[in-house]
Formats: sequence, structure tokens, C-alpha cells
Amino acid sequence: MTNDQRKPVMAGNWKMNINHLESIAYMNKMAFSLIDADYARTEVVIFPPFTDIRSVQTVVDADHLSITYGAQDISAHDSGAYTGEISGSMLKKLHTKYALIGHSERRAYHNETDESVNAKVKAAIKHDLIPMIAVGETLDIRQGGNAVEHTLNQVQGALKDVRSNYVSELVIAYEPVWAIGTGEVATPQDAQDMSIAIRAKVAKLYSQDVADKVRILYGGSVKAGNIKAIMEQPDVDGALIGGAALDPDEFLRIIRWPDQP
Ligand code: PGA
Repeated sequence: MTNDQRKPVMAGNWKMNINHLESIAYMNKMAFSLIDADYARTEVVIFPPFTDIRSVQTVVDADHLSITYGAQDISAHDSGAYTGEISGSMLKKLHTKYALIGHSERRAYHNETDESVNAKVKAAIKHDLIPMIAVGETLDIRQGGNAVEHTLNQVQGALKDVRSNYVSELVIAYEPVWAIGTGEVATPQDAQDMSIAIRAKVAKLYSQDVADKVRILYGGSVKAGNIKAIMEQPDVDGALIGGAALDPDEFLRIIRWPDQP
């Protein structure tokens, strides 16, 4: 399967930015600007804070938008005494399509491990949400020459005991930690090399057919000015965008990457 057979994904991760009122203005701008040709070429995903999801859903439903959205995290539990947590069934009720799992900020600041990431992947699948699993190495690990091994271990840990039919539809976002929010972008070749390694790992754990279907994104200081070279890599199927996605105009330029010079 070639890149042409995996629909590219452009996912905007708002992190802890944009309140629920601001999200309505943002979504209206997207609704006004995106045309059918954009949606035909690219799947556009937004990861708003939990408190915005209802507002995002309302705009998407009212205007029959083809934008999809996801949660930035998900509880590993179904329900119960877990103060502050949000369950997969709550997210599904809001027509949430994706759950972002294992973002490096959650691994670093909320002690998420490969085990908890794996539990969340299973919780997402149980509630019919598509996991978007974030993996990637820190600068120390890269400088020590262990970036590939580290990242592939994260992939294997996240997918432990996950059945192949679910793996073929999920998304893996390679986000080198040293490139997130720093302005330091990995080279397009780095993104391609790691995507090949991740795909080969999925092929080894499952099958070539599954590996050919899984979509692998790059994330870390993506902007309109660097997206084209990244997207020209055959194994990179899209991007997870933080800072640059906070500005809807910049996010639109990224979504329309083939138009960039
Ligand atoms: P960034 O963030 O684009 O601001 O580097 C990416 C991410 O953390 O998903």
C-alpha cells in the first residue's frame, strides 16, 4: 500500500488553550473556510480541551461539518470513583471519534507509562474511539543513539494485547519530545526514517497488511512553512500540530500543504 491509499490526517492539538466560547469562533472559521476538496484530500481532526467538546460538537452537527474531533486524554476506567477523570463512554456520547493517548506532556507531567497508555488504548477501543497514540524520544535518548529502540518500545507497550483489526485503523503520532513547542523541527528524513521503523515494527507484531494501513503522523513544531517537505515523505501520513493549530488561519495553511511554496 502506498501513501496514496492512507488518507492523510491533520490533527490540531489545542492543549490547555482556547475556552469553550473561543472554540465556537474557531470552528466557525474552519466551517467557513474548508471546502469539500479539502475534506476529500485530508481528514481534519481537532483535539480541544474536555470543556470545549460540547461546543465543538454543536458547531460540527449544526453545520454538518466533516471535521472530526477527539479528546486529549481518556480514563482507563469505565466509571466510578475517579475524581477528575473522563470516561470513554462520556466521550462517545459527544460523538468524539479519537482519543489522544500518551502525549509526551502526559507522560512527563502525569506519570503516564507504557502500561497506563496501553490500558487507555484498550479503554478507547472498548468505547469505540480510535486511539491516536503519541510516541517519541527525549533529546538525551536521541543523543545516546537510542531513539528508534525507545520509540519502538513505546509502540509495542501501547499495543500490548490489542487485536490486529483495531491496530489497522488506529493512528500513531511520532513526536520527538525535543521538537515539541521548541521550534526545533526534526528533518523530513528523520520523520520518514522513524515512520518506516514504526511501520516495520507493526508489521513484525501483526502483519504487513496491518502495517500498510496504520497511519503514522509526525508532530513537533510543524507549521505552514515546513509541512510540505514533511508530507512529501511517503511514510508520513499527516501531522499532529500544537502551537501552529491555535491560529485557524495557520492551521488551514497546514491543511492545504500542497499549496505551500
Ligand atoms: P507543537 O506541539 O506543534 O507546538 O510542537 C505538538 C504536540 O505536542 O502535539
